[in-house]
Amino acid sequence: MSAAGTPPLDLPDAVRDGRPTVWRNPRLGRAAEILPGLAFGLAEVEAAEARWRRFDPLLARLFPELATGRIDSALLPLSADLAALVSGRPGAAAWVKADHDLPITGCIKARGGVYEVLVEAERLGLAAGWLSGASSYARLADPDVRAAFGVHTIAVGSTGNLGFSVGVIGRALGFQVEVHMSHDAKAWKKRRLRDLGARVVEHAGDYGSAVAAARIAFEGRADAHFVDDESSVDLFLGYAAAAFDLRRQLDAAGVSVDAAHPLCVYLPCGVGGAPGGVTLGLKLLYGDAVRCVFVEPVAAPCMLVQLAAGPARSVSVYEVGLDNRTAADGLAVATASMLVAGTVGGLVEAVVTVGDADLFTWLRDLWDRAGLRLEPSAAAAFAAVGPACGALPDVAHAMHVVWTTGGALLPEAEFQAALAQAA
Ligand SMILES: Cc1ncc(COP(=O)(O)O)c(C=O)c1O
Repeated sequence: MSAAGTPPLDLPDAVRDGRPTVWRNPRLGRAAEILPGLAFGLAEVEAAEARWRRFDPLLARLFPELATGRIDSALLPLSADLAALVSGRPGAAAWVKADHDLPITGCIKARGGVYEVLVEAERLGLAAGWLSGASSYARLADPDVRAAFGVHTIAVGSTGNLGFSVGVIGRALGFQVEVHMSHDAKAWKKRRLRDLGARVVEHAGDYGSAVAAARIAFEGRADAHFVDDESSVDLFLGYAAAAFDLRRQLDAAGVSVDAAHPLCVYLPCGVGGAPGGVTLGLKLLYGDAVRCVFVEPVAAPCMLVQLAAGPARSVSVYEVGLDNRTAADGLAVATASMLVAGTVGGLVEAVVTVGDADLFTWLRDLWDRAGLRLEPSAAAAFAAVGPACGALPDVAHAMHVVWTTGGALLPEAEFQAALAQAA
């Protein structure tokens, strides 16, 4: 027994030693058995999707580059050569769900962060009588509404991309925005937020302590809303609605997903909200025909250790001797969301851990060969495909979707520095 009186975690040596590995989730169950027991189901994800669509006219008004108001990315086929290289299997079919190039924010966190700010705007809009029906949502960009939103603060704790997503939509609607970040969060991500007019508060500790401090600071404040990356249901459901986007694109491409044509989706995981929400949405749509593989840095496999520990207590990577230091800043999270771990713990196929050096090699290769501009966290998804195919028979025969989660808006100097690290 450990000092705290809890049994030691059953983890492979590779995880404790910080070596890349493929960890099969022992709690993986059948979707048909697990989904009915969860707190959220298709009705909740459909409601999130319907809310996104209600806001299309407002988003199109606020951001002219969003012609339809829809925040979605392309589904790009990988060339046969690249699919074979990535998977280690000649003849493999692979796609990129290109959220690295998601409009407005260039990262997957918009799916949750923008969505939660829209939920708050809708709540305030309904209370004030500004919204009278589905066709009235563009009204929320009128000057009088903006001025009213200006006395309200949206706060968030973030490694960077969630803060940016909340900042972009929050400032566009006229809210005050306050983003709490760890001191080692990327300087350019802090600068970009300040340029938007957001207040950036720096904390001495890691991302988790920045979130905890912000949560306390905003507790009980009627003039503010705190977007809780670790435990917000709205954030989670905003991500989950992405499953409808992927299904629409697969349908349009004539790709069937069923028992005979399984799909494996590779999702970089930080606190877990984005990959967890997408996993819930996809499992609701495709059941066991979709397999969701999470990808984490060797130094920060917080979801892996949490799934290994089970739902009874929260476990951090520090407890198993890891240091949470990684170049994949979006994934530098020591403690996973208990909401996410508790919800998708039986739906995640496996967690693949990847070393930082591989992130840079894939970042460079995907740029050279496919023109994909990725940040290290997003390149992690590519680093996982080959190891997963080598270790998981059910996955090796699937079609692959690599979810690239961020990078298009990386400043040029940052991107060049990342390319240079690969050399
Ligand atoms: C680029 C990128 N990918 C993946 C993630 C992981 O998302 P989550 O923290 O919700 O697991 C993040 C989180 O910030 C990110 O910035």
